Amino acid sequence: MKIAVYPGSFDPITYGHLDLIERGLKVFDKLIVAVLINSSKQPLFTVEERKEMIREATRHLPGVEVDSFEGLLIDYMKKREAGVILRGLRAISDFEYELQIASINRKLNEEVETLFLMTNNRHSFISSAMVKEVARYGADVSDLVPPHVVEALRVRFAQKDTRRA
Ligand code: PNS
Repeated sequence: MKIAVYPGSFDPITYGHLDLIERGLKVFDKLIVAVLINSSKQPLFTVEERKEMIREATRHLPGVEVDSFEGLLIDYMKKREAGVILRGLRAISDFEYELQIASINRKLNEEVETLFLMTNNRHSFISSAMVKEVARYGADVSDLVPPHVVEALRVRFAQKDTRRA
């Protein structure tokens, strides 16, 4: 059974991530979507909320497992006995960052490979950061994220507004 881990922040999951998951499943029998628990970042959604949004978005895809990890990705790979890290490349601008991550991971464990898939052109401009920026001001993000994420963003930003008032 070919297993890959697709790690990331997923704050929140976008159609770009979903496209990568769907195409990753053509190559792998099982894909573990792993949310990084990063205590030094201030995410919009908790790890549990992010996992639940990914679960909902991938409900139609057998072969997807949603999990989270803390610490080094390479240690998590060992724990899950997975040999391939899946990452998406949207544009040239992603390349340097991705090269750094892949190189460090290879230095830490040469047996783990990083595989890149090009994000579908339609989604190449979507990032979670951009989605949050736009949704914060009430703009329509329904082309960028699944309906349940649109709703979660609406609720979260409404809560933030109430707290500020
Ligand atoms: O979606 P992101 O935030 O670009 O994902 C980055 C991620 C989670 C893949 C990367 O930060 C990561 O693997 N962090 C875990 C810590 C680690 O292993 N660091 C060494 C390689 S950068």
